[in-house]
Amino acid sequence: MIEITDLHKTLGGRPVLSGVTLTVREQETLAIMGPSGTGKSVLLKHIVGLFDPDHGDVIVDGVSVPSADREAIAHIRSEIAYVFQNSALFDSLTVRGNLLMGLPPGFCDEKMLECEERARSALRHVNLGEEVLTLLPAELSGGMQRRVAIARAIIGKRRYILYDEPTTGLDPINATHIKELIAQVSVEVDATSIIVTHDVDCAFFLADRIVLLSEGVIKAEGTPDEMRNTANPAVREFLDAAPAVEVA
Ligand SMILES: Nc1ncnc2c1ncn2[C@@H]1O[C@H](COP(=O)(O)OP(=O)(O)O)[C@@H](O)[C@H]1O
Ligand SMILES: [Mg+2]
Repeated sequence: MIEITDLHKTLGGRPVLSGVTLTVREQETLAIMGPSGTGKSVLLKHIVGLFDPDHGDVIVDGVSVPSADREAIAHIRSEIAYVFQNSALFDSLTVRGNLLMGLPPGFCDEKMLECEERARSALRHVNLGEEVLTLLPAELSGGMQRRVAIARAIIGKRRYILYDEPTTGLDPINATHIKELIAQVSVEVDATSIIVTHDVDCAFFLADRIVLLSEGVIKAEGTPDEMRNTANPAVREFLDAAPAVEVA
């Protein structure tokens, strides 16, 4: 479980998070939606200790991230896979090399056979064939790169998967493929997922529960149905402003 309480963060002299309180439950898929620039990525980075809060706390499985020592942070990070915005693959590594980065250090030296099997299995989960293992990211389409980034996130069988804007930068067809893929992965893989997105379709399609982050706080929270039907003005304003979305 991840518990965020009264999280405050000012960046560049501007308050970005102004008291975010949020619990992520075991096994759920939670979407954090909100306009661009509202602090969604900043919030995710607090979960893995890439940012320290000015005030408030982030507790992962009972351990406070801001006050954790290096060893405790390393342990927390070993439980969390992070699919960065724009895939963030290593250009100079093959797909195989990129996938293995998702495993703990030394794993492949100790368990060579399992290591190769994990790579093949992760690729199968994202509907890619073994022939891509020897390719470089530059030899893949944007949609395939995104699949590899997701495969790298699931290869380590971590308890949490954080997706930062998984559909952004893809054409509509690939964006739909990736959404369907994440839905498939969340059924097949035993993990708790957080999806940060400004894409309303993506949030409604994937989430068990959605929160709206806006103006530094969680303005609303509910199931997709509850969010669709709410009279909450912040949600209505956000949904009305979203271009050509199917939320009906
Ligand atoms: N490292 C940083 N230093 C200064 N400002 C930052 C930094 N990271 C993010 N910000 C600012 O924080 C705000 C929220 O950013 P971000 O979390 O990336 O938004 P989004 O909701 O689109 O993910 C933006 O105004 C951004 O410019
Ligand atoms: Mg972002």
